[in-house]
Amino acid sequence: MATDHERIEPAAEAATIENLLREERTFAPPAAFVAAATAHDPDIYARTATDEGFRAFWAQEAKRIDWIEPWTELLDWQLPYAKWFVGGKLNISANCLDRHVANGLGGKVAYYWEGEPGDSRTLTYAQLLEETCRMANALRSLGVKKGDKVAIYMPMIPELPIAMLACARIGAPHSVVFGGFSADALAGRIDDAQCTTVITADGGYRKGAAVHLKASADDAMNRSPSVKHCVVVRRTGDPVDWNPDRDHWWHELTAAQPTTAEPEPMDSEDLLYLLYTSGTTAKPKGIMHTTGGYLVGTATTHRLIFDIKPEDVYWCMADIGWVTGHSYIVYGPLANATTGIIYEGAIDFPEKDRWAQIAAKYRATILYTAPTAIRALMKYGHDEFARDDLSSLRLLGSVGEPINPEAWAWYWKYIGGERCPVVDTWWQTETGMILITPLPGITTTKPGSATFPFPGIKAGVVDEAGNSVPLGGGGYLVLERPWPAMLRGIYGDHDRYVETYWSRYPGRYFAGDGCKRDDEGYYWLLGRVDDVMNVSGHRISTTEVESALVSHPAVAEAAVVGRTDPITGQAIFSYVILRSGFEASDALGADLREHVSEVIGKLARPKQIMFTPDLPKTRSGKIMRRLLRDVAEQRALGDVTTLADAGIVATIREQSGRGED
Ligand code: WTA
Repeated sequence: MATDHERIEPAAEAATIENLLREERTFAPPAAFVAAATAHDPDIYARTATDEGFRAFWAQEAKRIDWIEPWTELLDWQLPYAKWFVGGKLNISANCLDRHVANGLGGKVAYYWEGEPGDSRTLTYAQLLEETCRMANALRSLGVKKGDKVAIYMPMIPELPIAMLACARIGAPHSVVFGGFSADALAGRIDDAQCTTVITADGGYRKGAAVHLKASADDAMNRSPSVKHCVVVRRTGDPVDWNPDRDHWWHELTAAQPTTAEPEPMDSEDLLYLLYTSGTTAKPKGIMHTTGGYLVGTATTHRLIFDIKPEDVYWCMADIGWVTGHSYIVYGPLANATTGIIYEGAIDFPEKDRWAQIAAKYRATILYTAPTAIRALMKYGHDEFARDDLSSLRLLGSVGEPINPEAWAWYWKYIGGERCPVVDTWWQTETGMILITPLPGITTTKPGSATFPFPGIKAGVVDEAGNSVPLGGGGYLVLERPWPAMLRGIYGDHDRYVETYWSRYPGRYFAGDGCKRDDEGYYWLLGRVDDVMNVSGHRISTTEVESALVSHPAVAEAAVVGRTDPITGQAIFSYVILRSGFEASDALGADLREHVSEVIGKLARPKQIMFTPDLPKTRSGKIMRRLLRDVAEQRALGDVTTLADAGIVATIREQSGRGED
């Protein structure tokens, strides 16, 4: 029954992406918030719009950090490579630690840490500095020196940021590999960067079970001849294999080390770290981030977007293995002398409200998490955390995927108690820092919109040919001016760097995301361009159809993909997770299809709906639409080893084909 689609005229201009969803709700910043906000003058946007203004802004922000030698040139932009704060020398760990201790903040808490089994630790800035110095000395004692690459494969324990800071202190670039990745993934990353040292742990806890990291690290290291040393934190106490020529216990190696260590003076453009990101092809890209610009960019965005005050207790719930953790658990927050929370385990374990218990325990004031987590909590329902006191919260953030307006509104209402501004922050591993976001004391927000480019950031939305799409239309997101924390390339692969980001629209950075702007110029991210569906010549974003589904009271989460269709080219196939208390049925399926049709129009009406208890996600929580497309096409499945729950694929496959029109 493809008749609905048949009656739809092909789009006049196939180059852009349809603008279907209209969201009318607006949320002005609460007056009390504005009165105390760090950024409260809307003039900041006009001031930073010109080339001169944006340079003055970053030059001013750079004064907030300590330079060993001052920089002489703000920006050297030789497309596609930027150098920022040219000639400057600094050390990031000294900026994150020594500086604060010297300023009398040694006793201030840097991290409250909570282990999944219920153990906890508190580290002050003075303690974090001492531990970092011990580890820096330990690494030096192993012969690790400036420029040597160190792989870090750890659970979310305090030794993880300590290891990163120790590397930064001695100028050894780190390559953090998320602890949920396999030995294969680790080996590939070690090999690509030729890491000489690996820092890991015997294991960590996840949903009540110990994950044996050392065993996977052994497997990887046995294939990686570049590795000379491995430092192992004892976390679980489980037995591990031991290679005495290579392996060292962290506690033994650091015990007798001095608690001071000279920080290595680093050039602004010295490599700080590599972080691998998968993208669409198999071989991960080693994204390069350097020192001066990255520190200024992350510190500035963190301070202004999260409105950081000295008394805040800030909780970014991401894993440090992702860029969000690098920029907004470690470097940005520590540069701002923030008190943070780090939690080892799953946010819903052992109780569904574990996250809320932790937020209440430490009186968290700021929460920064991902739409996938918000939708999971929505699915459980707000009663699950009704007993937890979340009254300390004053600001909420979202990152990682487009947030459906309904999930945004739920977050604002039930977690934020209708009093906390929500900042939906768009950025990427490659961008290093948040680029599109509200400023909570200035911006009137709209649920589902990341609102405007950060001051000094110049973004645009273009069509296939690179022409600017007028307000009200959709197309491809581009960035038109360099920014301090931008990537400095793909490690060892210049051609791929140019090809991926700089060749589609010469002179402009291609983000790979669809985006529309409404009549007021608000930016609405529409998902990866690879996922855009083409129905009867209309290019429809997955995000808008998913958001329309999530706006139905029965739906907690939805994923849509285009499936080959003989009449319309592609037809929309939807996977739907229901909120607790709702039952899957043909009637509900029909109702949902009708609902989408009403909310955003007939052309976006899904042809098929499949109810599912869960969805395949990457380890960082992004829906794997490529896999869902394969299921929808009933083709062979791709590699499922990176799924958060491989079992779901079986369920989805089993159910595939049911719920047919
Ligand atoms: C998506 C995570 C919409 C987007 C920091 C981007 C978002 C990719 C948002 C980068 C957001 C991230 N709204 N989409 N607020 N934040 N994305 O490298 O597709 O893990 O290109 O960096 O996530 O993911 P990455």
